[in-house]
Amino acid sequence: MRPAMSTTPRLTAIVLAAGSGSRSGANVPKQYRLLGGKSVLAHSVGAFLAHPRVDDVLLVVAADGEVDVRAALGALGDRVRFTAGGATRRDSVAGALAFLAGDANPPRHVLVHDSARPGLPAEVIGRLVAALDDGAAAAMPVLPVVDTLVGSDGNVVDRAALRRVQTPQAFIFDILRAAHLAWTSPDEPTDDAQMVRAIGDEIVPVDGDARLEKITLPGDHERMERLLSQNLVSRTGMGFDVHRLEKGEALWLGGILVPHSHGLSGHSDADVAIHALVDAILGALGEGDIGSHFPPADPQWRGASSDKFLAFAAERVAAQGGVIDHADLTIICEAPKIGPHREAMRARLADVMGVGIGQVSVKATTTERLGLTGRREGIAAQAVATIRLPGNR
Ligand code: CTP
Ligand code: MG
Repeated sequence: MRPAMSTTPRLTAIVLAAGSGSRSGANVPKQYRLLGGKSVLAHSVGAFLAHPRVDDVLLVVAADGEVDVRAALGALGDRVRFTAGGATRRDSVAGALAFLAGDANPPRHVLVHDSARPGLPAEVIGRLVAALDDGAAAAMPVLPVVDTLVGSDGNVVDRAALRRVQTPQAFIFDILRAAHLAWTSPDEPTDDAQMVRAIGDEIVPVDGDARLEKITLPGDHERMERLLSQNLVSRTGMGFDVHRLEKGEALWLGGILVPHSHGLSGHSDADVAIHALVDAILGALGEGDIGSHFPPADPQWRGASSDKFLAFAAERVAAQGGVIDHADLTIICEAPKIGPHREAMRARLADVMGVGIGQVSVKATTTERLGLTGRREGIAAQAVATIRLPGNR
């Protein structure tokens, strides 16, 4: 039997990330800053990898970059290829095209995208691909101009005839290569469509998207953060845990060592407050519970600091492009008194989760000497975590 053959021609996404972001005012290139828990770059790369029509991604990074590209990409890093960029955007694209031309089976189509445009909706990729499917040599997302425009002479320019051009831009690979080889103007082009236009090809406009704005100037990053967080959906999770009190054990509670006659025994350091909090976060994510990620029977977790579990849960939220908004804990015990340790616990928990202390609440209660906590046999804890995640999945 013959293997099934794909009838759609190969489509490669080129993601440009070799710029220095000099206009953004940040101390790292803008594409490496975190946006809703993951790098700007990872947003763009992730959007392409998630699209069914994109076959592969080539990432163009600075040759002498001091930034840890792998760290900025996380697990996505294993699913892309890398090539070194050049001194200008045009050089970076040309380098990527030369790299792809070296493939045994070069792509028929390419998408060229500024990584500094992290808000890349799947629909825009879909519109560009549809234009290529219809036989276009090139396509680009455009938006209408809504502001009044004046020239440097003060005269009004007719905005009805103007469009704002975004990326990704879609091309037949050979045509984009030809355009790059033919470019002789001393002016540096700011995108690829204008180069293809210069060799006489038509560029099909498709609808752009406000989320595709480029991060360029100081303040753009924060604006993008607000824009993209509108797509986040709030989720709440709850957690509950109990551990036995025993003489001679250290009492780890809320991430700190609390002086007390007894300590908690059990899984890891038995920090019952952290365990409840981890379950609350995992509950909000819909990703099981602490025992499913860190089985109590596994010897590697014996005596382990529960901080690790909390950091893991916070990383799971970040990996999904989410944020932790708030955590509220209730510790249930007759002794020790929690009040004197409340602020230290809040600070420690906030630190491990990577949030502000104002986003963490620690409360305590007794059970009026009733039940297991009343008899001082153990300490119980409850937690509620509120997080926001992209979309509803
Ligand atoms: N880019 C690139 N190689 C270059 C210059 C730019 O890959 N030599 C990429 C940038 O990383 C960015 C995109 O091209 O994703 C658009 O460029 P721009 O917004 O100008 O980014 P920077 O050049 O990094 O910023 P600035 O011009 O403010 O220095
Ligand atoms: Mg630039």
